[in-house]
Amino acid sequence: MVVNKANGLSGELTVPGDKSISHRSIMLGSLAKGDTEVYGFLQGADCLSSISCFRKMGIDIENDGARVIIHGRGLHGLRKPDGILDVGNSGTTIRLMSGILAAQDFTSRVNGDASIQKRPMGRIMTPLSMMGADIKSENDNGCAPLIINGTRLKGIHYDSPVASAQVKSGVLFAGLYADGETSVTEPYVSRNHTELMFRDFGADISTVDKTVTVKPAEELYARRIDVPGDISSAAYFIAAGLIVDNSVLTIKNVGINPTRDGMLEVCKMMSADVEIEEKANSSAEPVADITVRTSRLKACTIGGELIPRLIDEIPVIAVMACFAEGTTIIKDAQELKVKESNRIDSIVNNLKVMGADVTATEDGMIINGNPDKKLSGAAIDSKLDHRIAMSFTIAGLNADGETEILNSECVDISYPNFYETLRKLCR
Ligand code: S3P
Repeated sequence: MVVNKANGLSGELTVPGDKSISHRSIMLGSLAKGDTEVYGFLQGADCLSSISCFRKMGIDIENDGARVIIHGRGLHGLRKPDGILDVGNSGTTIRLMSGILAAQDFTSRVNGDASIQKRPMGRIMTPLSMMGADIKSENDNGCAPLIINGTRLKGIHYDSPVASAQVKSGVLFAGLYADGETSVTEPYVSRNHTELMFRDFGADISTVDKTVTVKPAEELYARRIDVPGDISSAAYFIAAGLIVDNSVLTIKNVGINPTRDGMLEVCKMMSADVEIEEKANSSAEPVADITVRTSRLKACTIGGELIPRLIDEIPVIAVMACFAEGTTIIKDAQELKVKESNRIDSIVNNLKVMGADVTATEDGMIINGNPDKKLSGAAIDSKLDHRIAMSFTIAGLNADGETEILNSECVDISYPNFYETLRKLCR
């Protein structure tokens, strides 16, 4: 994909449905009794991987692109898959589904693409093993492929060393099947969509501070789910509207769950012109229309409890920081190293190629920004990482010369129409 400097972006858009909620809708819908209808489901490759895995376990899932209907078979209704469960590029599918598979009365083998085969699965194998699960890394390297022999599980308390919603959720799914209460304490609160959705589906779940506790479930109940727009996808347009001259953009129907809204807090710290108009909404997930206008940004420091609330937005926040006056410090973000690519490396190396003043650190990066200097167009190695491809597309809108995004088709993982939407808004 070739990107040129934009003269401004204007208009209204909606972004695709939230990726985390879409995955969870398939898993909970499959384990519930009855038909779960999902509107606004993200038709990205990652969520389609969740659909194909549960179809392989005997769940009838209709998907016409506008509505997904999951004909749930109850907590004990999954069938032994015929062959391998392929999660593609999706860390959420493999880690959450492992918690479910650990408790089934069959054995499964789970694998994914080359990126998944390098990502750490020990973080989910450890707590599941404490629950009595029989889960192994086939190559004994802590990565997929995983072999999971379903068995009876016991409830545990798990003190997680990482603030990871995937780890927390994998344990909570297993907890639905355990013989007693299961709780997870995190160092910082990570996204809580699993907790909100468990409650909606009838599970007994409670949160006190950084600890979530789930009781074993007898039954989950099917329901309708309206998936809000994904703030992680909105982030690219928020950033574009702020850094490209002569821009005003309204992004409608964006999920602004407080465990996900770190990007909006950073906008405030950067003195960005952002208006948030909260909408009435039937679900537990708050939703808003967000309007952004070209702004003179100021640098800020991002770390601590904010990190899990914006972990997927750091690549595009780093792009914004190149145009902010002063030095932006991103710290406590070592988790970036184990995402779809090593994102500290892929952000810093690509920003350097575009002429930015940026230094990698052990747990993040330091960016010296300049509001009066454009980046320089360059060839960007996306590392097949969707968030890197989209973030550097936004960088290209504010760069002199051509920016070429290599392997840009990886945006399909989370945002199939990203380029079409962007093209319509650009002047
Ligand atoms: C997700 C959790 C986060 C996030 C990922 C989606 C989820 O990962 O980066 O894109 O849906 O639970 P971690 O749990 O590894 O932080």
